[in-house]
Amino acid sequence: MTTIGTPLSPHATKVMLLGAGELGKEVLIALQRLGVETIAVDRYDHAPGHQVAHHARTITMSDPAQLKGLIEAEKPLLVVPEIEAIATPMLEDLEAAGVVRVVPTARAARLTMDREGIRRLAAETLGLPTSPYQFCDSLAELQAAIDGESGRPGIGYPCVVKPVMSSSGKGQSKIDGPADVQKAWDTAMAGGRVSHGRVIVEGFIDFDYEITQLTVRARGVDGSIETHFCEPIGHVQVSGDYVESWQPHPMRAAALEKSRQIAKAVTDNLGLGHDGQPGGLGLFGVELFVKGEQVWFSEVSPRPHDTGLVTLTTQVQSEFELHARAILGLPVNTALKTPGASAVIYGGVEAQGILFDGVADALRVPHTDLRLFGKPESFNKRRMGVALAFDADVEVARTRAKLAASRVKPRAV
Ligand SMILES: Nc1ncnc2c1ncn2[C@@H]1O[C@H](COP(=O)(O)OP(=O)(O)O)[C@@H](O)[C@H]1O
Ligand SMILES: [Mg+2]
Repeated sequence: MTTIGTPLSPHATKVMLLGAGELGKEVLIALQRLGVETIAVDRYDHAPGHQVAHHARTITMSDPAQLKGLIEAEKPLLVVPEIEAIATPMLEDLEAAGVVRVVPTARAARLTMDREGIRRLAAETLGLPTSPYQFCDSLAELQAAIDGESGRPGIGYPCVVKPVMSSSGKGQSKIDGPADVQKAWDTAMAGGRVSHGRVIVEGFIDFDYEITQLTVRARGVDGSIETHFCEPIGHVQVSGDYVESWQPHPMRAAALEKSRQIAKAVTDNLGLGHDGQPGGLGLFGVELFVKGEQVWFSEVSPRPHDTGLVTLTTQVQSEFELHARAILGLPVNTALKTPGASAVIYGGVEAQGILFDGVADALRVPHTDLRLFGKPESFNKRRMGVALAFDADVEVARTRAKLAASRVKPRAV
């Protein structure tokens, strides 16, 4: 049984979000609607989630001492990581000591905080199909991984290089031949989140399409954990960053079944706590590449996924509501309400406190909605908002979402 208290009272049910961007903001809103007291944490002031939470805190989340200090001071029931760059070993210590519960588990947050933990788990421990890959710490190692050495076959061309610590395509590039290797290495070194030089090089998968399989671990009537699947989300990525998504993406039955088997295997494992018990609850975004009936695991977020913003318009419960419910031990409903689509609105300018023109024109496109995230500073390629559209025909919804997004015109003051 789950009991929820009254916010700002001695018996409040307190949840702390580590990361308060646009995805965290929606989780915070969903939690507040259920009567939860929320604490939004980010590395800069006035982050989107700071603007809607009961409490806003600004710290360096990768600093173990700062993170421990804040958790001990606030004493939340749950800590919900919304970004990857967190001092996850400290979260593991606090969880093992019984100070706090981490969503889905501190172990999952650690394993998914860089590309190495999750790739080795998926490919080497679970034996799931992935692109061929190799980890490298220097340009020479990268070249050797591509070419092959001492009997080991090379990754070959084309391939993709990514810093082990990065997201949204930062520092990522495709290598088509020997002339691109040096540049890809330099790009990875400049784009990684931390300055150590480790990269993953992956064989390029010539997929027909890629999907996000949103997967939810939630408690059933008898208290045991059940796995629920949302309809597959199709998406388009430009330079490793999501620009458009839609749901449902049509799939062959065999490919869908394989996708869900892979999603189940990965989330079952990430749901295991430090005690080896399957206690981890919440929503996961499992990224998969599909060609015909072949499916490859790419990566997974143990939290709502950016391409899942579309569920704000397509599902009975958005991915954010599903996450909020699941982590509180409440029942979930992953049903689709209508097909629909999302299209990203980029800043297009480098400025603070920007203005958005054309909002009314955008919302005049039938069956559309908008989220403007409220980020204090705009960059050319920073995601500042998203347009949503629904229609019985997913292609019509895509066209409308893109049209609405294009009508919003950010500008510097
Ligand atoms: N091995 C690969 N083969 C083909 N495309 C890839 C490969 N790896 C990544 N991509 C493309 O780049 C996108 C971003 O890569 P991903 O590993 O998901 O990085 P991020 O963590 O930044 O999202 C993927 O969604 C896909 O479109
Ligand atoms: Mg990705």
